[in-house]
Formats: sequence, C-alpha cells, structure tokens
Amino acid sequence: MLNVAVLVSGGGTNLQAILDSEAKGGNPHGKVTLVISSKEGVYALERAKNAGVKSEVISRKSFANQQDFDEKLLNTFKENKIDVVVLAGFLSILGESVIKAYPNRILNIHPSLIPSFCGAGYYGLKVHEAALKKGVKVTGATVHFVNEICDGGAIIAQKAVEVLDGDTPESLQKRVMEQAEWELLPAALVDICKQLDC
Ligand code: GRF
Repeated sequence: MLNVAVLVSGGGTNLQAILDSEAKGGNPHGKVTLVISSKEGVYALERAKNAGVKSEVISRKSFANQQDFDEKLLNTFKENKIDVVVLAGFLSILGESVIKAYPNRILNIHPSLIPSFCGAGYYGLKVHEAALKKGVKVTGATVHFVNEICDGGAIIAQKAVEVLDGDTPESLQKRVMEQAEWELLPAALVDICKQLDC
C-alpha cells in the first residue's frame, strides 16, 4: 500500500474526488495519508479533516528561498513515508530537488488538453478564459507527470469536454471539473499506485 500526499491551494474538489474514490474502495494500492496546503484557511483543509487525513500548511512565503521551501517539503514527505505526490490545484512551484526525488511519482491535473493553454501563467480561470478567447469547440483536462518544465511532463490521461455557446470561464471550468477532472485524476492515481505497488 503506497502513501499518497495531495498538495492543494484552494477549494480541494479534486482532493475530494480522490478521497471519495478511495472511500468506495477504488484504490486498493494507495491511500491519501497527508494533505499539504500552500495556504491557511482553504476549504481543502476542511476536506482533509473531515476525511480524517493529516494535514499541514507549507507556504512558500514562509521561506527565504525556493531551496528552503523544497527542503521542507522533502523532509515532510520523508517523515510521512510518502511514495506518490498529487498536485491538485497546488499553486506553488516545486523545485528541482523535489522533482528529482520523485521521478514519475508526482502527478498534476491541468484543466485543458495539453499542449493547449498550458505553461507559465495558465492556471485557474485563466486557462478557460484563454480557451474561450481562442474559440476552441473542445477543451478538457490532462493528468501528467511533473518534470522541470511547467505542464511539460509525460501525459498520463486526457479527457475532452465540449465548449458550449454562451459559456463563461466559470461555466466552462465547472463542466471541465465535473466531466473530466474529478474522474480523470482519481483514475490516474489508481493506475499509478497499481503500477508502483508491484
Ligand atoms: C483545478 O481546475 C485543477 O485542474 C487546477 O486547479 C484547480 C483546482 O481546483 N490545477 P480544486 O481545488 O481541486 O477544486
């Protein structure tokens, strides 16, 4: 059984999707044992508490530089014997030492079909604003491994979602979450845990 850490910064609906799938017995090879938030007071922390999962706030602002932040993250992973890390709306950047310590063991969910609308500056509603501005008729979500290139690691899973006339960034974000993210991320995590737990 692998120990999974989920890193969050906001509402934590993707975290919830993972916890719900786990509660239904959906992940026989992994368990969320730690939630790390980059911000105090976010609802994702409530979700962790409600599920009885240990949580910690590790904020980039509390550290003088990226290296100290990375060291704190790595030590926390080590203390908690973390095998797999999931970035579920985590807004801080992971440095090289963290990425190198977990090769092909850090997953991220991005709310577009990579390579569209991804990379530096494309996060949250900005992704959906860009998709609407371009006028694409199909968007979606991507789960990928994290490497040193922002949104550039190997793609694990993707799901397409229709863009509808009259969509706003908010309505599109909601549809992408409901129809793609909440399904794709728990399923990808299950697959990765299964592969690694052999
Ligand atoms: C999601 O849209 C995810 O794709 C992106 O950040 C958002 C997080 O939402 N990386 P939530 O905190 O899981 O509700």
